[in-house]
Amino acid sequence: MLSFGLWYFVIAAASTAADTEVVVLRAVRGRNARLPCGQGKVFLDGPDSYVLWVKNERDVLYRFLNNETDNRAFASDRVYGTTCESGSCHDDTALLLKHVSDDDAGTYRCRVHYQASPSVDHVVDLKLVDSPGAPKIYNENNELIKLGYVGPISLGANLTFVCKVADDQPKTLVYWRRNGAVIKRAEAARSGLLIAEIRVVNATRNELDAHYECLAQNADVTDPLTASFVVKMFLPPMRVEIRLNNNLNFEAGQPRVVDCVVVGCVPPPSITWHLGDNMLRPSVHKELHDGNYTVSSLTLAPSLRDNKHDLTCRAHNSHLPNDLFENKVKLNVGFRPFCLSNRQDDVGAVHGEAETVTCVVEASPEPMQFSWTFADSKTLYTSVKKVSGHNHRYMSSLTWKPREEDLGQLVCRATNSFGEQKRPCTYTITPGGAPISPECVVIRSYPNVLRVQCKKAWNGGRPQTVHLEIVDESGKLLHNVTDPAGHFHVTDIEDERNLTAFVYASNVRGRSQSRIMRLQSMKPLTSSVSDDPPIPTWTRWLEAVAAGIAVAVAIASTAICIKAFKSREDFPDFSPDLVPRPDGVFHREPDFTREERVLGTTNITVNQLAACQNQYATPPVPSCRVMVGCAGHTPANDSCPATTQQSYFV
Ligand SMILES: *[C@@H]1O[C@H](CO)[C@@H](O)[C@H](O)[C@H]1NC(C)=O
Ligand SMILES: *[C@@H]1O[C@H](CO)[C@@H](O)[C@H](O)[C@H]1NC(C)=O
Ligand SMILES: *[C@@H]1O[C@H](CO)[C@@H](O)[C@H](O)[C@H]1NC(C)=O
Ligand SMILES: *[C@@H]1O[C@H](CO)[C@@H](O)[C@H](O)[C@H]1NC(C)=O
Ligand SMILES: *[C@@H]1O[C@H](CO)[C@@H](O)[C@H](O)[C@H]1NC(C)=O
Ligand SMILES: *[C@@H]1O[C@H](CO)[C@@H](O)[C@H](O)[C@H]1NC(C)=O
Ligand SMILES: *[C@@H]1O[C@H](CO)[C@@H](O)[C@H](O)[C@H]1NC(C)=O
Ligand SMILES: *[C@@H]1O[C@H](CO)[C@@H](O)[C@H](O)[C@H]1NC(C)=O
Repeated sequence: MLSFGLWYFVIAAASTAADTEVVVLRAVRGRNARLPCGQGKVFLDGPDSYVLWVKNERDVLYRFLNNETDNRAFASDRVYGTTCESGSCHDDTALLLKHVSDDDAGTYRCRVHYQASPSVDHVVDLKLVDSPGAPKIYNENNELIKLGYVGPISLGANLTFVCKVADDQPKTLVYWRRNGAVIKRAEAARSGLLIAEIRVVNATRNELDAHYECLAQNADVTDPLTASFVVKMFLPPMRVEIRLNNNLNFEAGQPRVVDCVVVGCVPPPSITWHLGDNMLRPSVHKELHDGNYTVSSLTLAPSLRDNKHDLTCRAHNSHLPNDLFENKVKLNVGFRPFCLSNRQDDVGAVHGEAETVTCVVEASPEPMQFSWTFADSKTLYTSVKKVSGHNHRYMSSLTWKPREEDLGQLVCRATNSFGEQKRPCTYTITPGGAPISPECVVIRSYPNVLRVQCKKAWNGGRPQTVHLEIVDESGKLLHNVTDPAGHFHVTDIEDERNLTAFVYASNVRGRSQSRIMRLQSMKPLTSSVSDDPPIPTWTRWLEAVAAGIAVAVAIASTAICIKAFKSREDFPDFSPDLVPRPDGVFHREPDFTREERVLGTTNITVNQLAACQNQYATPPVPSCRVMVGCAGHTPANDSCPATTQQSYFV
């Protein structure tokens, strides 16, 4: 019983005792009717109040609030009446008549018994009518619409619908509703036929899913007969939009989710993504359809090559195959600066002496600036230079006059449009000066040749070079050579003389202390390695390091055990650790280390070899390690204090 079309024919009911108005209502034979009590709104003022329906003043048909269940459900503020929810209507006080027949015609009295006031009567005179014809809807081509929908139609379409109802009865209404609202009533009526026509001109998006109903109604308490359809449309998208939150920067190689939202596309579009000229694989995005919206989420990890390329989101409507709906954005692909060096470089600063530190980073795009922060949080900014020959390399130099407060850590950070460098380049500002003495090893390979390898130490803050001076016993300078790397190769060494070498490093700020190495000569024992070409007789240089303590210890040690030029006759196949080198010379490998000895303090004798052997119960034991200061009992103790100078003993 929807709101439309309840006509009350009010008659002054002189026949009844009370002055009760009689309302004439019509119901359709063969269908259900629902008689409202009064205006359909009844307020019961207590649990003992009730509504009683009586027919023809005799038969009690229905009482509402008539048993415990109803009483318990009573709510004092409740107004009973027709409530309709999602199409089905309900009124507890109404009287429902099923399959109305001629017997149901007559007078119905609805009496509302109040608890605290006199009862009120409502009287209905129910008349019966025959059903109107069922409505039928035709399109402009006079085709019956049967499927429940029309379309899909496009925007701007013009549609005409004609509803026809065969009816001979008076007072039958034929009308249209659109989405529940009445829009048109029948005007033209031929004999026995009611017609209502509607037109949709220049269809808009509003027609999408519009629900059109044609209704035929000739009764007051019986639902009308209806025919209906829904309009289907196909619509181009109103918007295609790549959502990037105004941030077009893509960190190279870093995956980022990009959403493309397509609004108002019907049917839901399929979405493709394109980067530059390449269509991206469909597996990398997923689509979500939510009525009006279709969202495609793409996980994109572009490379630097994709920089300044267009990312395109394209929506495809299957009904509009020739139209292109897309949105494009130009990607900025890059990365924030990072430091090229993992080291923490030392800077040797001298008060008041200008110092320059250079910071080199990789970045794309170019950094805007470099910032330098000292230990005391003082921050300076410097400009950017491109490093030629590299695509993404930039540098910046800071030159300043150091002060005491500058000692400590100095960090450098570059910033580009992707942000500030996360891990800074770091430097340690320490007091500068002359270099520290290098650590040197004497390696000699050939007669008359001296090779010295030096490992440079801290340079004091300025480039250093290593010096080697060789003097003879009389103090006469024989050689004075320098090498920035500290690698020396001196020929014309007179083997027969006891020489002294001085090694030191220097920079513009001064020179380090000298290391003194005494080079003394001896004649080698003859070697008899089986089939190898005889090792030429040579003068063997054994270097002694200036480390006086080591020398003292060496001298003090009494049980020096050397298995060097051991009697290979004794252990013919004992040579796993004697491997030939490319130069044909045998070396103990891989790490036979021994301490420098002062020639003349070591007796290489059979007796001592025997002493050595005695330490090993089960020959062949590959070697007897010679350890200065580790005499006798712990020859294999690797943790024996090592002295600074070591050399291979051939
Ligand atoms: C009370 O109502 C219940 C259901 O609402 C029904 O089953 C029962 O028969 C009624 N009792 C009386 C006395 O009418
Ligand atoms: C719909 O009707 C209007 C006005 O009558 C006309 O201008 C328009 O071209 C028609 N549209 C179509 C698709 O026929
Ligand atoms: C149809 O609608 C479009 C836009 O919705 C409008 O531009 C056009 O003028 C309309 N045509 C008619 C005939 O109403
Ligand atoms: C679809 O989206 C458009 C634009 O946001 C809005 O105007 C329209 O009301 C929406 N339609 C529905 C059914 O949500
Ligand atoms: C060796 O040469 C350097 C310059 O290269 C010089 O400074 C140094 O005094 C020389 N050494 C001797 C002992 O003359
Ligand atoms: C080298 O020094 C050693 C020991 O000091 C000495 O015995 C030897 O004769 C010296 N050699 C030369 C050639 O002076
Ligand atoms: C070398 O050995 C001989 C004989 O055993 C001994 O007299 C001499 O003192 C030893 N020399 C050294 C430096 O130990
Ligand atoms: C090596 O020598 C050190 C010190 O002399 C000692 O503490 C350590 O126990 C020795 N290790 C072995 C394996 O003999």
